[in-house]
This record gives sequence, structure tokens and C-alpha cells, in this order.
Amino acid sequence: MAKPAPTTGMKESLGVAKPAPTTWTSKLLQAAKLPPTIGMKELLQAASRPEELHKAFASDFPIESYSAIIVSHYGNTPKDYNMPEQYRALQGFNDILPDEQSYWRLIENTAVQVAELYGYRRIETPMLEETSLFRRTTGEGTDLVEKEMYSFDDRPDKEGKYDNLTLRPEGTAGVVRAYLEHGLFKWPQPVKLYYISAMFRHEKPQAGRYREHHQFGCEALGESDPAIDAEIIALLYQFYTQLGLKGIRIELNSIGDQNCRPAYIERLKDYYRPLLDECCDDCKMRFVKNPLRLLDCKEPQDQAKIAAAPKIVDYLCEPCREHFAAVQRFLNIYDVPYTLNPLLVRGLDYYTRTVFEFLSAAGGRTEALNGGGRYDGLAELLGGAPTPGIGFGAGVERISRELKKQGVKPPAEEPLRAFVVYFERTPELKDAAVQVIAQLRRAGIKAEMSYGDRSRKAQMKQANASGASSIILIGEDELAGNFVTITEGRKTWTKDLPAEGLEAERKQVKVERDKLVEYLKGL
Ligand code: HAM
Repeated sequence: MAKPAPTTGMKESLGVAKPAPTTWTSKLLQAAKLPPTIGMKELLQAASRPEELHKAFASDFPIESYSAIIVSHYGNTPKDYNMPEQYRALQGFNDILPDEQSYWRLIENTAVQVAELYGYRRIETPMLEETSLFRRTTGEGTDLVEKEMYSFDDRPDKEGKYDNLTLRPEGTAGVVRAYLEHGLFKWPQPVKLYYISAMFRHEKPQAGRYREHHQFGCEALGESDPAIDAEIIALLYQFYTQLGLKGIRIELNSIGDQNCRPAYIERLKDYYRPLLDECCDDCKMRFVKNPLRLLDCKEPQDQAKIAAAPKIVDYLCEPCREHFAAVQRFLNIYDVPYTLNPLLVRGLDYYTRTVFEFLSAAGGRTEALNGGGRYDGLAELLGGAPTPGIGFGAGVERISRELKKQGVKPPAEEPLRAFVVYFERTPELKDAAVQVIAQLRRAGIKAEMSYGDRSRKAQMKQANASGASSIILIGEDELAGNFVTITEGRKTWTKDLPAEGLEAERKQVKVERDKLVEYLKGL
């Protein structure tokens, strides 16, 4: 389907409508504590410090937006590439650029390490599934199913039949389907699985809320022991602690099961019935479709009603009460701090008993870094035998933002070990440079060279800027003698310093070509 014509070139950047330049320039300048007479150069410098702007703006919108806003007004490419609107990334869909990747790598490596430490094994399920899988498990009355799924008809087969498919909005349904489909219930139980996958929800993009996001999730299937509930919460706690995050609050509740929850729902409806006229429109709808979600309303007008509402923990049946008490006991043994929140309910219908969220309070606004809970009836909804399960999904983008907010620095990328420079622009010297770089890379040495037949001076400048600890020089003498000259140690390049001067100032060593790898590894 053709896209509508772009409206006056206005681009929504991660949910932030592009504002009039004047207002925004001054706001950004203020936020960045820059003088009002600032030039474009300083503004672009500010764009490279989004954390600062973000902090100054008190988390008004996604950290990634600041650079995007400045860049969209002023352009950061030398020629100001005016990209047509229809080729830009979709609203709420993010490019995860190399600078962001160091945070992602830290999150992924920590996730894998901690999940495997707790005995979870990786699973990836398809991104696309039959729509009915999500409708059945997540629940017809949920926002996710009613408003947020990316669903479409597949192409028809030869008989003209087609399926309705949905881009995975959450990970649990697919994992439980795979558990049933591949007979994982025959394995020793529990089967403990984890994933790091993209999810798609047609939500209104805003800070920490995107249309494509990624979740690190864990699911433990086939075990109802409350020690597993505590294990999965302890795993998450260790994950955040190991990442270096502080001030994370764990909220815990039990929402009962099919035995005790219906009576509570009736009690809740009795409480809300006389108050409905004063409730927001969404709550009027929730009252009919999903009464438990009444407790999750964010409208200020409904907060007092929520606070005074009957609490589900007071209506738990004996087995649910015992289960909840045991979860808390095991959490205490794990030494995991938590807060009981009797109003915590989750947005998806499949939860039973234990539910939890981890919230970050850093930077002012509270935001769920992850959510999870038990879903003992989910497998049955898909035609399986009764199979208890518990899990969580943690938002990678939100964790990455939190790391930045708290100033946690990811490990630096592996530095460049060597940069190969060839002195004259002859085919023989260039071939020798390519041979050397191939030799280094085969030996696992991170090396780079200059392309595009730049002058010797330009290559030296590049080599210097690359941060490589060794610069490998190949000139006519080196070629004839089958050796290379290595200059060691880093020195900041200044415009006035000619390449010769730079070389002269550094320690230089001549090394035979076939001893080069050995030499660099020995340094
Ligand atoms: P959820 O609470 O809908 O639960 O999502 C889990 C986490 O994913 C959230 O806490 C948040 O960090 C992140 N998240 C959700 N939506 C977005 C979004 N639009 N943009 C950015 N991040 C987002 C589930 O999805 C359940 N499947 C979790 C689970 C697994 N329960 C049991 N097992």
C-alpha cells in the first residue's frame, strides 16, 4: 500500500514531532547549558553528548532523540543529505548504531552469562507466528491484542487459503508453543530457556517505548515449585547487579489462580460498580473486559479509587497463599530485596500467582525494566497438558538507557593493534600492504589499513587517528628487504607535524615480514 505523502517534511523522531527550529534550538541550548549565541559547530558537539542533554531535559524523551533532533535541524553530514521522508526508518523503529552496540554487547554478554549460570539454555523462536497463538494466550481483552499487534494476511496458497500472521509482540507464547511442538515436556523438568529477541508492538512511541524493541527473556517450564519463582527473580537481580546498575526496585505480588481469582474479581467489580461514572473511559471498558486491569490505570482521577480497592492478596486461596509465602522465604534466602505491591497486576492475561516488575527510579521517572510472572495455565490454552511455567521479559533498550543514565560505561571495544601504511602509491607497495594486513588478520591481530590510495601523509594521519598501538610502514626499502618498519607508541597528530617528524619521534623497529606476527604478539 502506498504511503501517504509526507506532510510538510515533518519527521517524527522516535515519537517526538519535529518542532519549530527556533523554539527547539533555544530549548536545546538551555538544556545543554550552552550560550544562546552558539554556532552550529558547538551545537553539533552537543549532539554527540546526548547523555548530557538527556539529563538536562529530565528524561522528557528518548536519549537517542537528542542527536536526532539536532541532526535533523542542522544536519551532521558534510553535504547535508536530505533524505526523502519515505526512506527514513519507521517511527518507533530504531537503528542500533555502532556507538550503541557496546552497551548492547554488555547487556547480551551479561544476560547469556547469568542465564547459563542458572542453567537456562538459549532458544530462538520465529519472529512470525499465527495470530491466533497470541490472541489465545495473551488474551482478547488486552491492549496488546486489541491495539498493538502487527497482523496481516499471508499470501494465499494454491487453493486461495491464507493465514493471518503476527509479528511476535512478546516471547512467552512462542516459547510455550515450541515446548509443546517439540515434545520438550518429555525432557527432565523444568526445562529452562532464555532468549534475546526483537518484539513488535504498535504503541505510541515515547521515552523507552518503541514499536520494535528487544527483550532478554527467561522461561522455566514444567515446575510449580516456588523455589523456581525465587530463582528467576534472583537471576534477574544478579543480572542487574552484575551490569553495575543501582537503585533497582523489585515489586512483587500474587494475583492468585483460577480457584481464588474469580471471587476476587467479583469483589473488585462490586467495589467499582458505584464508582464507574467517575472513572475514565478506559476503566469503564476494563470493568467489562478485564477488571483486574482497573488497578493498572494511570489516570490521576482514578488513583484514589485504586488505592482504596480491595487487595487480591487478601483473597488468595490457601495453596496460593502458601506458594506466595514460600516465594518470599526463598527470596530472603537468596538475599534479594523486594517490596510487596498488592496493586501490581500485569498487562497480559496469562499470569497466575507470582507477578513481579523491576523498576528503575534513577533519573526521576519510574519505568519497568522488566516484567514477569507465573503462567500455569498457558500450555493448556494451546492444547498441552497442564504445565506450570514462570518467566520474565527485560527490555534491552530500557536497560541500555538505564546504564547511560547511571553512567555505567561498557567495556571499550578491542583497540586496533596495528595500522599498515604504504609509502608510495605504487601497485607493488599496495599489494605488500594487503599481504601484511591479511597475514595479521589471519593470525587474529586486529589491524587496519588505508584505502583509496591516499598520500603517505594522509595515511599517517589516519593511522594516528585510528588509535593503533603499532604503525607498520612499508616503503621501497622495506619491500626490497622483505621487512617492515614498525613505529610504536601513540602520539597525537598535529597538523603541523609532518609524517617524517612523527616517525622520527617514535621508537622505530625493523622486523622481518615472516617474524611480524611473532613480534607483535610478543609486545
Ligand atoms: P511485558 O511487561 O509486556 O511482558 O514486557 C517485558 C518488558 O519489555 C517490559 O518491562 C519492558 O522493559 C520491555 N518492553 C515492553 N514493551 C516495550 C516497548 N514498546 N518498548 C520498549 N520496551 C518494551 C512480556 O512481554 C512478557 N512476555 C514477559 C514474560 C515472560 N512473562 C513471563 N515470561
